[in-house]
Amino acid sequence: MKDILTASFVTEMRKTTANMYRLGWDERNGGNISYLLDEKEVGEYLDLTKVIREIPTGFDAKPLIGKIFIVTGTGKYFKNVDDDPETNLGIVRIKQDGTTAELLWGFKDGGKFTSEFPAHMMSHMARLEADPKNRVVMHCHPTNLLAMNYVHELDEAKLTHTLWEMCTECIVVFPDGVGVLPWMLCGTNEIGEATAKKMKDFRVVVWALHGVYGAGKDMDETFGLIETVEKAAEIYMLTAGLPLLNTIKDEDMVKLAEHFGVKYRKDFLHLK
Ligand code: 13P
Ligand code: ZN
Repeated sequence: MKDILTASFVTEMRKTTANMYRLGWDERNGGNISYLLDEKEVGEYLDLTKVIREIPTGFDAKPLIGKIFIVTGTGKYFKNVDDDPETNLGIVRIKQDGTTAELLWGFKDGGKFTSEFPAHMMSHMARLEADPKNRVVMHCHPTNLLAMNYVHELDEAKLTHTLWEMCTECIVVFPDGVGVLPWMLCGTNEIGEATAKKMKDFRVVVWALHGVYGAGKDMDETFGLIETVEKAAEIYMLTAGLPLLNTIKDEDMVKLAEHFGVKYRKDFLHLK
């Protein structure tokens, strides 16, 4: 059996959480990541018949039965993951009943998966239906996007349009736009269900006055998605209140989307 600390998925979790912390997106225990793993690959590092303990999830995740995820722990700080992955991360498998997580590794101090596990697992279910290659769901509290929540209308079309205007490549990186949920109590099945519903159409979902969810086929793509949205929000916050002299025109966004061959939300543009 190989040493799990040499597994690329553990390294990716360590590096990504450290990057997110350094970018200021994950203060204290803010943020969480779940990453769908390949069973055969995990089997090179862990005896998959050995369950450390069972943790009830409180929701039904039948489509994910047997699937294995590496996930950040609740109350754990992203800043500490790199130094102690076995305490701050866990590897869980969804049991046959669909409502229990079998702990295969990690959460060494008796901890458990993120309180946002419903939003993560429900988002995986929604994204896997839209794209069978989807593997990562990421939540964080990016500073500028959060600031923008207080000064910009939280309408999906309007918010997406403003973000697309802020950097030339935005419409190419998130052509499906940005979904928005109103403020809701976090850590509940309800916010999980609402997030998953949005995830059918969007890979980025803003939780009003809280943060953002992103989904993608790998860690780079998902991180890059949130990074691009946050960069656009940063440009917005740097220019908000200043006289606007130039902007990217809607016709130019169409040119970009067509040139890069992406399917974009035409209804979010104001085309003549
Ligand atoms: P956890 O510590 O349970 O992952 O919660 C952090 C968070 O960002 C809640 O939305
Ligand atoms: Zn949060």
